[in-house]
Amino acid sequence: MRTYDCAPTLNDTQVLEFCRNGFLMLEGIVPDEINRRTFAFLDAHPSGEPVEILKEDWFVNNVILHPEAAGAVRSLLGANFGLPVLMSNHRVQCPMPAQGWHRDGGSKYGPQQNYLQVFYYPQDCPVELGPTELVPGSHFLFSLSTYMGHYGHIRGGVKTTAPAGSIFISVYSVWHRRSASTAEGLRNMLKYSYWRTVPPQRDWVIDPDFDLATAEYGLAGPTFRQQFRDRYDAAEMYFWLCGRMSEFRLIGGQGWPHHADNFLDKPYGMPPEPLKGLA
Ligand SMILES: [Fe+2]
Repeated sequence: MRTYDCAPTLNDTQVLEFCRNGFLMLEGIVPDEINRRTFAFLDAHPSGEPVEILKEDWFVNNVILHPEAAGAVRSLLGANFGLPVLMSNHRVQCPMPAQGWHRDGGSKYGPQQNYLQVFYYPQDCPVELGPTELVPGSHFLFSLSTYMGHYGHIRGGVKTTAPAGSIFISVYSVWHRRSASTAEGLRNMLKYSYWRTVPPQRDWVIDPDFDLATAEYGLAGPTFRQQFRDRYDAAEMYFWLCGRMSEFRLIGGQGWPHHADNFLDKPYGMPPEPLKGLA
């Protein structure tokens, strides 16, 4: 399989933010010339799976291996991550009603991150062109797509309105849908996956000021679950990514990872500090 390595770009706070929300947006990072070339390529290859584009060096070098996107993937999947072998284009003639809420087939639930689902907008995607809508934190919530598809507006949903050249990276199981579009026109959105090939370890950008005691594990918006559960899930995913699952523990109550900004001291129930010299 084709693998790639590069410098990681995310720090601890950003990795934990990804664990909480289930996605991160990199706005407008691909050059306009490449966006236009991609748009033209997709006009010439209008299928739902234009996998031929993965053989184009200009596309691979500027989109798939873009330093910021690949650096984020490297941070979350580790060294020598596997490159995409399938390309999907969500090519839609707008206007269209909203798609049903769903998580993609093959979703597994838990802290493990062995692959990432990535989206690239080669054109501007304002709200009128029906950007993908995501529910932050929903990557931990199991529901059958057959039920989810009947939900309408979900409080806290985020529409990924973004300029051309934006890439967003998501946990595979995050709830999403194409939102309703109102404008006339064609919307392309490419979707592809990267894969882990090495065991997880904390080898992203280490932030020496990152403090496990006071880090923010909770979602800013609605969580749709029992109080503190969002914190527990995000903390567990962060520990999985650090390769420290054997040390992960939850005491419950007001123990770690409770919001600890107002605590007199460190929260009770913290996992042990890493051994000296080990990240
Ligand atoms: Fe989907």
